Amino acid sequence: MPTKNYSVYLIAAFSALGGLLFGYDTGVISGAILFIRSEFMLTTFEVELVISAVLMGCMGGAFCAGYISDRLGRRRVLIFAALLFTIASLVTALAENVTWLVTGRIFIGIAIGFSSMITPLYVSEISPYKIRGGLVSLNQLAITVGILLSYIVGYYFSDTGNWRYMLGFAAIPSIVFGVGMLFLPESPRWLYIKGKKEKAYQILESIHGEIAAKKEVSEIEENMNLDQKKPIEWTAWFKRVLIIGVGLAVFQQLTGINTVIYYAPIIFEFAGVQTATNAIFATGIIGLVNVLATIVALFLMDKAGRRTLLLVGLTGMTISLGVLGFAFHYSHVTTYLGWITLISLVVYVASFAISLGPVFWLLISEIYPLPIRGRAMSIATFFNWTANLLVSLTFLSLIDVFGQSGTFWFYGILSVIAWIFSYYLVPETKNKTLEQIERQFDIN
Ligand code: BGC
Repeated sequence: MPTKNYSVYLIAAFSALGGLLFGYDTGVISGAILFIRSEFMLTTFEVELVISAVLMGCMGGAFCAGYISDRLGRRRVLIFAALLFTIASLVTALAENVTWLVTGRIFIGIAIGFSSMITPLYVSEISPYKIRGGLVSLNQLAITVGILLSYIVGYYFSDTGNWRYMLGFAAIPSIVFGVGMLFLPESPRWLYIKGKKEKAYQILESIHGEIAAKKEVSEIEENMNLDQKKPIEWTAWFKRVLIIGVGLAVFQQLTGINTVIYYAPIIFEFAGVQTATNAIFATGIIGLVNVLATIVALFLMDKAGRRTLLLVGLTGMTISLGVLGFAFHYSHVTTYLGWITLISLVVYVASFAISLGPVFWLLISEIYPLPIRGRAMSIATFFNWTANLLVSLTFLSLIDVFGQSGTFWFYGILSVIAWIFSYYLVPETKNKTLEQIERQFDIN
């Protein structure tokens, strides 16, 4: 059977639409909620429910995604996620009451939970190793574009208050995502482990060429033989990779990124930015910086390496959070609080965008052995969404208790701990095939 010639860039770009929906659907609610609240006359509890429903769905989706994708394949689950995104977006756009809205948002969350882990996994398993870092990070770029798009769409419809269009808009990329995935191949590594060796080889050959494909297949085969001789158990190295994944997952959230992504206008208000329009404009700048810095990360990922970017970015995050804390602490004597806030947040977001943002999703798609890759990624992703929910629900209360400066310093301290954690535990994975990474851990 002749094999199609797949372009790996096209494959990565189409699957990254899952990331775009992740960003859009988590971001859009902050603009839409004001109008939803007044139309349905929601209580505070109902507002919280509408906002956090997605995150709860994400936790559930992430939890099951690994098991399902190890059984059914990466591609099929992504197609299912696209279908879920489409239907659930339309349900929320047409919702007649809060029950429908919350139900739709939970299902969108499940779809995000699926795609947030399977997209990087799929792209990682299909990419040539030399450019894997950049290709997998396209997903993070798509997340940031999705967030920016949600700000723009929210802003555009804010005049008319048409929240239904804001939520329904997501159906368009969802359909493109689903239709695109129908034409893409299954992950060759998953096919191989399921015994479909011929098909797996054909796909690898059509993407990487004959010589590379032969080499990869022999490495996969060799690893599978070794895994059979020495099954993956609760060994020291397995514990270590699990700790790295879960640790990065939790630090990615506990260092506060989503307080900025979800609450930036409120932070600018705290800093005395006068009008809502200015606060929203400043938020737009943050969204744009997030996209631009991620593009830089994409180019550096396979050159500077994951570890270097992680350590440099975490340093930038720590410094900017420290400065932000000082600015709020001395707000009574600072005339430039608004500007210092904007600059610190820009540095903070840019630093996140070159480090914890893409590197977390990339590393968890690289460091786990093939037979359990899906399930192990599920665990890390589940912790990521749980920590996301925790931070989103506690940010405003933390400010009540510790004040703005105390809260930002708190995230700053967590960034220092994340730096130490990364310095001692996180390996460099650039320029290695997934099979070489697996063996590298095995030896250690
Ligand atoms: C994180 C999200 C965050 C986004 C911001 C992602 O890597 O998982 O929680 O909102 O980056 O760009």
